[in-house]
Amino acid sequence: MPQTSSLPPLPRARTHPFDIPEQYALLRGEAPISRFVWPNGVEGWLVTTYDLIRTLLADNRLSIDRAGNMPPSLAIGRKPVMMPRSLVAMDPPEHTLWRRLILRDLTPGKARAMQPRIEQLTRHYLDRMREQGPPADLLAGLAFPVPSQIICDLLGVPAADHQFFQRQTQVRSAVDSTPDEVDEATVVLTDYLREIVAEKLRHPGDDVLSHLGQETVDGKPVSAEYVVGMGMLLLLAGHETTASTIGIGAANVMGDEDLIRRLQSPGGSEAVVEEILRMHSIIQYGVTRRATADVEAGGVTIRAGEWVTCLLASGNRDESVYRCPHAIDADQPRVPHLTFGYGVHQCVGMSLARVELNVVLRTLFTELPGLRPVEPLERMRFRDDMFVYGLHELPVTW
Ligand code: HEM
Repeated sequence: MPQTSSLPPLPRARTHPFDIPEQYALLRGEAPISRFVWPNGVEGWLVTTYDLIRTLLADNRLSIDRAGNMPPSLAIGRKPVMMPRSLVAMDPPEHTLWRRLILRDLTPGKARAMQPRIEQLTRHYLDRMREQGPPADLLAGLAFPVPSQIICDLLGVPAADHQFFQRQTQVRSAVDSTPDEVDEATVVLTDYLREIVAEKLRHPGDDVLSHLGQETVDGKPVSAEYVVGMGMLLLLAGHETTASTIGIGAANVMGDEDLIRRLQSPGGSEAVVEEILRMHSIIQYGVTRRATADVEAGGVTIRAGEWVTCLLASGNRDESVYRCPHAIDADQPRVPHLTFGYGVHQCVGMSLARVELNVVLRTLFTELPGLRPVEPLERMRFRDDMFVYGLHELPVTW
């Protein structure tokens, strides 16, 4: 779509792959809610400070329901993708009912119970990397397969299928995929899940899809299409995010003796992982809502119908909130970061993601403390143009 807007374009240029665009710091100081035009030609408000992001994500006049409208996006020429309905298209009170059903399988206790399996998978993939390397690609060898197998376990789908949906998910989230490729990947994934769900409804197992299939909402059985929608959301939301954070977190830790020692020490990995999550908020362009009424915030009026994007990555670097915003400082006073979002849609998988990140990074740097990149960071390919930031590959040696 040609850009006819008089607004400035969304700031995107990074001076270092671990830093967010410099302009966000100026915006936090001078215009924390301001209007930009996105690469797809859609205009919207950009929110850059920690407090305003939390205020707006807690405001029920901002809706997540896109209802067929094209939101601001990095991808040019896309039409709204027809997906089975799920949590990320629902506002309360509808959202509250359905979210409760999925939360049961993702409590902190359930996530802790998955730790032995995550440890087993991590050791398995690390052993394979060691047999075949050095060098090895840490992303393909470890960071992607562990979270995607865990999603297979959660959903009760064959572990062998993880490469198939990893590929389809990547097509969907790549900004340079054509609209037809995105549509095709969506159809292929939906059809795959429809078959799996039909089987789960006939022969329930002990997994999220089977549990959902046996639930009722308002006295009515949950429809197969809703179970498909939730399965799709978990597939898409649950592995690329965690895998990219493992990759960029490992790249940041390599060669830093203090961080490696902390990761290795009993109980020491949590603070490092929280800082990795804060520093590298991999949902790089944040979360988007649409105003359903006029909303006054930060000295501006957001009109009904306008788009609002909360830049979680910028809120996580807010100098008025963090002592050391632009580096990993595991000793700084703990202020909850925004990487998992805020408000009613805050990530349901965050406990699981935290266990995965702690296990994988702790094991990796305990087993291979001398891990180092094969080439300088500046020469590596980063996912600047994708919804989920991170590295495309991370060739390492040890
Ligand atoms: C480092 C890893 C992860 C990050 C950074 C992340 C980030 C996020 C963010 C920012 C949101 C809020 C979206 C919004 O407000 O519009 C979200 C929601 C969600 N995430 Fe995650 N996520 C991660 C891992 C996971 C995992 C492992 C799962 C599943 C097992 C998962 C499932 C979901 C679901 C289902 C939602 C929608 C919740 C709702 O709308 O109520 N995520 N995630």
